[in-house]
Amino acid sequence: MANMYEALVNKKASLAVIGLGYVGLPLAYAFAERINVIGFDINRQHVEDLQQQAKTKKAEIVFTNDTAMLSNAKFFIITVPTPVDRYNIPDLKPLMSASETVGKALTKGSYVVYESTTYPGCTEEDCLPVLEKYSGLHLAEDFKLGYSPERINPGDQQHTLQTVVKVVSGSDDTALQEISKVYELVVKAGVYKAPSIKVAEASKIVENTQRDLNIALMNELSLIFDRMGLNTYEVIEAAGSKWNFLKFHPGLVGGHCIGVDPYYLTYKAASLGYDSRVIAASRYINDDMARYVARKIITHVFRHSGNPRVLVKGVTFKENVHDIRNSKIVDTVKELLLFHIEVDVEDPFAKAADVYREYGLQLSEHAADKKYDAVVITVPHAPYLQLDDAYFASITNEEALVVDLKGIYRNNITSRKYWSL
Ligand SMILES: NC(=O)c1ccc[n+]([C@@H]2O[C@H](COP(=O)([O-])OP(=O)(O)OC[C@H]3O[C@@H](n4cnc5c(N)ncnc54)[C@H](O)[C@@H]3O)[C@@H](O)[C@H]2O)c1
Repeated sequence: MANMYEALVNKKASLAVIGLGYVGLPLAYAFAERINVIGFDINRQHVEDLQQQAKTKKAEIVFTNDTAMLSNAKFFIITVPTPVDRYNIPDLKPLMSASETVGKALTKGSYVVYESTTYPGCTEEDCLPVLEKYSGLHLAEDFKLGYSPERINPGDQQHTLQTVVKVVSGSDDTALQEISKVYELVVKAGVYKAPSIKVAEASKIVENTQRDLNIALMNELSLIFDRMGLNTYEVIEAAGSKWNFLKFHPGLVGGHCIGVDPYYLTYKAASLGYDSRVIAASRYINDDMARYVARKIITHVFRHSGNPRVLVKGVTFKENVHDIRNSKIVDTVKELLLFHIEVDVEDPFAKAADVYREYGLQLSEHAADKKYDAVVITVPHAPYLQLDDAYFASITNEEALVVDLKGIYRNNITSRKYWSL
């Protein structure tokens, strides 16, 4: 097992990536430039699409949904989703099922590395028993285990798999050294060797929990400053002139990471008898912002119209991506619909079919003959940065409100009422 790296680079063994999504697919492609890679996913259609693309790209990856193909692999990386259920309880089903798949394919001398974000202890306490059960093998004498969290930032060209230091960990020193060497094949920025699997798991969840907490503070400040008639962005800019002020901004916290991962930590903490008050309060504040925004719009539009129309620009969870998972603006839209407000939703990046399947909302273009009573700009998508006062005036009634959640147009909207978080 001490020569796993050699076996991979000499192409005597293959590496398998289990779960070919936002994290797994780029990882599989990156490794395929150096070693033999099998890309496994349970989604058959997705695998077929990847097989087609691989032909045109001439990529040396075997894409498959056939578990039998995994018997050729010796180094497994698991990158399946780790969502929460409707009660915000971690849903470990994909992780457990991927562990079962890998367990069945596991042979002596193999390595299994988890990348899915999860709470400290999950890899060793929840996943390892499944690997051992389905393989009949034992950690240490038969196979090695590791955890290496992903730091990918969708839509970010600068902070990529290659350019960001990657935390790695292993079940013993040999595992740590071998896993490090394997990741160094693709991570040019190098690896950080964490002292244990639990530390590596905790480090990832802390990165996201810290962001959640800092944004929650800005959101709370925004709730306070709104009552004072202060613009939070102006306050942050002024405070940001101090050298050690951390520049976070208010906003809706959606997506699959920041709004989800803290629940993994609070869940585990609760199982150990600790009630995480600060983290839970941040989650509460951030999750409630969508309704707060809706209330702002509702109070404004019904003052000026008996039949209000609202245009929502942007449904993805952040700018310049097509990912709509946990889109919080959808909560705002649903609140507006409850009040029978006519809402049009558009987005230059989101796929209409995804939005319909996920939320039952039809994406629409703004009809030329329509005038809105409020326009909500949710994310700074590149095409939105060009919009100006004249544009907003052209698509709205005179009394309309421009709701600029990210403060993009601050000081530039004069012909309509303006509000930002
Ligand atoms: N997307 C990000 O930016 C990001 C960043 C850091 C960490 N993460 C973490 O990485 C993990 C994966 O996230 P993602 O965004 O890539 O998810 P994703 O939903 O984009 O992709 C997951 C893939 O796994 C497949 N899958 C599900 N169950 C499977 C199984 N049992 N066996 C094989 N394949 C299976 C799905 O079909 C899907 O193609 C999560 O834990 C997430 O929190 C994501």
